[in-house]
Amino acid sequence: MSPLPDFYDDLDASFREAWRLLADGVEHGRSGFHLVTLASVAQGAPRLRTVVLRAAEGGPGILRFHCDRRSDKARELAAHPACALAAYDGPTKIQIRIEGRASLHTDDAVADAAWAASRPMSRVCYAAEPAPGTVLPAGDAYTLPDEETAALGGRPSFCVVRVEARRLDFLYLDRRGHRRAAWERDGSGWTGAWLAP
Ligand SMILES: Cc1cc2nc3c(=O)[nH]c(=O)nc-3n(C[C@H](O)[C@H](O)[C@H](O)COP(=O)(O)O)c2cc1C
Repeated sequence: MSPLPDFYDDLDASFREAWRLLADGVEHGRSGFHLVTLASVAQGAPRLRTVVLRAAEGGPGILRFHCDRRSDKARELAAHPACALAAYDGPTKIQIRIEGRASLHTDDAVADAAWAASRPMSRVCYAAEPAPGTVLPAGDAYTLPDEETAALGGRPSFCVVRVEARRLDFLYLDRRGHRRAAWERDGSGWTGAWLAP
């Protein structure tokens, strides 16, 4: 049987492990935390979709992803900033769920910096016409520009979403005993407790 991980039965270490895994997911496509499921509130009902995690900073408790400002999710988050993220990584057997508040950045320095750092191939979809979610007369009735055109044409639709985490729920699966903990954040920082799995 493999040894228990260092964070087992260590609440502070479990918190650090959660943010370490999220930051690792930003960097590595093979991580289960690279793609996260994002929930927004759409006319009173939950709506889910996959997004690429672009940043995760444990200190300030900030996560970031990118989307098209013309998309439904951008509209939903602008109207109802409450949102949630969830992901599971099979190899580490860890699920992380985050609840927080989203803020949209479209025409500011945050969006400018993220756009400048984005890859040319990632920019192409922001210059797609018509806007995401538009009903089409046929499956291929939309256009994507080449990377050079997208470098300028995509910027107006590019949106950075920053999620300020207010709650983080951590679940580690182990046959010798699962471990679950949650932390909540107020003005003075994070407070955590073990929870029954
Ligand atoms: C693997 C994968 C990664 C995705 N990454 C993103 C992303 O980072 N940002 C995004 O806006 N949509 C991303 N999408 C598409 C969304 O899941 C969704 O289909 C699309 O953005 C429309 O969502 P909405 O109508 O809720 O706005 C991704 C989809 C998949 C399957």
